[in-house]
Amino acid sequence: MRVAVLAGGRSSEHDVSLAGAAAVRDGLEQAGHEVLWVELARDGKWTFAGSEVELRAGRGLLGADVVFPVLHGPFGEDGTIQGLLELLDVAYVGSGVLTSAVCIDKVAFKRFMAQAGLPQVAFADIDVARWAADRAGAEAEVAALGLPVFVKPARLGSSVGITRVTEPQALADAIAQAHGHDPRAIVEAAAAGLEIECSVLGHPEDPQVSEPGEIRILGSVSPGGWYDYEAKYTPGGMELVVPAAISATARDRVQALAAEAFHASGCSGLARADFFVDGEDVLLNELNTMPGFTPTSVYGQLWEASGLPYPQLVDRLITLAIERHERERGHSY
Ligand SMILES: Nc1ncnc2c1ncn2[C@@H]1O[C@H](COP(=O)(O)OP(=O)(O)O)[C@@H](O)[C@H]1O
Ligand SMILES: [Mg+2]
Repeated sequence: MRVAVLAGGRSSEHDVSLAGAAAVRDGLEQAGHEVLWVELARDGKWTFAGSEVELRAGRGLLGADVVFPVLHGPFGEDGTIQGLLELLDVAYVGSGVLTSAVCIDKVAFKRFMAQAGLPQVAFADIDVARWAADRAGAEAEVAALGLPVFVKPARLGSSVGITRVTEPQALADAIAQAHGHDPRAIVEAAAAGLEIECSVLGHPEDPQVSEPGEIRILGSVSPGGWYDYEAKYTPGGMELVVPAAISATARDRVQALAAEAFHASGCSGLARADFFVDGEDVLLNELNTMPGFTPTSVYGQLWEASGLPYPQLVDRLITLAIERHERERGHSY
């Protein structure tokens, strides 16, 4: 197959994407595919083999059989690039427009998952207009969550713009910081316990789940003890422990909830499902529809530990993308 790998992109996760895309390229080549490396600059320009790429609706992308958008965050993982690839009429790896858009928005996602009956932390939706118009009401809703709380921009990633707030006086600054990234912000009750992640692969109706792993954070890198930007990107800032040190019941629950969340949100191809596990209580934190893809990233490591090596993983994702495209083009619209 000819696979166009999209690398870089406009979000703050540009460099993370480049590293992941390089690993995907190597994995695809090892699996026998031909790779077209398409680089998306921070200003949005697409380049292939030194020339700007011309995009024409309905004409595919550079003759590729399938596109692998190894892009994270806004303009990459949020439905926008997926919409563009639909209009180009080319098969692509990962979830479609609606699921990508819902999963990147922490407020929309939580509402959607609540409807599906999945267990999550309590939260308040604090958008910039509400914070200005009804400060007292918003503060009362946040106070009911107790302390500490996590204040986050609704649609970002890599822990950028997130603050762990431990005292009421610090709330306004944390919300201002979140609103600096996104007019939509979310405030969440703090979950106790371990951070557990589980990789999911497949079509929405029959996903496969990996062995869950535990994220252990190195205290000296991240003194707050949570999975912040430094812990994520400082080499050695975190350790992935597989299998996770949780009970068999909790493990089963994580795997069942990962599959259920994948199905309920209409994910396709892949997602990494992240949880908080406290004894036997399991809460869903988020689904990442294009998780980190570097050789040391959790998504691939969990599959490796579950018996699926990286080249086979990327090969499987290509097959899933083509199957979905064929299936969808079989519908009349
Ligand atoms: N409600 C919460 N309770 C406890 N820890 C949290 C909570 N929300 C976030 N965190 C911590 O912050 C990290 C980043 O939050 P997350 O919502 O996963 O954002 P991102 O999309 O940037 O990964 C989590 O991995 C966890 O360490
Ligand atoms: Mg996260």
